[in-house]
Amino acid sequence: MKLTDEINPGISPKNTAPDSQQLEYAYFEGQYVPFTEAKLSIRNPAFLYGTSLFEGIRGYWLPETKQLSIFRMKEHYQRLLFNSKLFYMTPADLSLDDLCDITVELIKRNNPSTDMYIRPTLFKSGETITPTLENIPSDFCLWTKPLGEYLDLSKGLSVCVSNWRRVQDNCIPARAKAGGAYMNTALAVTDARKMGFDDAIFLTSEGTVSEGSAMNLFLVKDGQLVTPSKTEDILEGITRDTIITLALNELGVDTVERTIDRTELYHADEAFFCGTGAQVSPITRIDNREVGDGTPGELTRKIQDLYFDVVKNKLPRYQSWCTLVQL
Ligand SMILES: Cc1ncc(COP(=O)(O)O)c(C=O)c1O
Repeated sequence: MKLTDEINPGISPKNTAPDSQQLEYAYFEGQYVPFTEAKLSIRNPAFLYGTSLFEGIRGYWLPETKQLSIFRMKEHYQRLLFNSKLFYMTPADLSLDDLCDITVELIKRNNPSTDMYIRPTLFKSGETITPTLENIPSDFCLWTKPLGEYLDLSKGLSVCVSNWRRVQDNCIPARAKAGGAYMNTALAVTDARKMGFDDAIFLTSEGTVSEGSAMNLFLVKDGQLVTPSKTEDILEGITRDTIITLALNELGVDTVERTIDRTELYHADEAFFCGTGAQVSPITRIDNREVGDGTPGELTRKIQDLYFDVVKNKLPRYQSWCTLVQL
């Protein structure tokens, strides 16, 4: 199956940049600068040791009103700031509101007319050869990029259980979205794709189901949603939370958060990935076994439709999740 991701090298996004002549800006070292001027030293510790924390946020283009709907921006920055404490990266001079304001301002300066990916990063800066988190400065940067679909949302994905295990909480906490931990992701995705699968499902080091390479996982069994609990070395996804809320409020469907055995994957009626990048991506094959009847499931489709309505600011009940930037 063809993947349609702009993050994945060599694959084009569905949407294109509005105007290739337009100067693109980034936020770097406390300023809005032309993107090409935002550069780090090759001695930067985040580059050397992966000592960074990041978020991936989506902005959905609303052509009728010429607005960008940034989805759950505040929650993304809350997660970033929460994790920054653990890694001694709390930015001294930037509050939650400042981070949101910088994001809105950068969007205005980049003036897109397409769906966007927004990438904030907190990182260790200065120059040191010691892999440490203390007594070296932290910095914040931000860039944006047009982004279409990260995974194919229509036909259903064929995925495998990775033979790489998810990083453990007491190694590099998966809930932290730490740059260095994405070597783990890269190994799983690369090997899955080399074997002909679209993506991979991680097991924990205990052998229970954890999450996708860069997305959370849901199964449907007997009309109920089941997803690995927060202690299964997952990122506590904002989309995961969105789905749990929407399924309950809008469809009356409960989600059970619990430990999941590997073989439950093969017995599921439906399965899907979710995440800022993945959005809601149906899974139709796991380890070459059909999920349900091998087509995207009915409940998955309903959740996918709801999700797109919500991120595009169409459901009044959830409009507080969308920050609208007028362009
Ligand atoms: C490892 C991992 N799990 C899950 C997710 C989904 O998290 P969210 O819904 O907050 O984007 C992501 C990021 O998208 C991720 O990198």
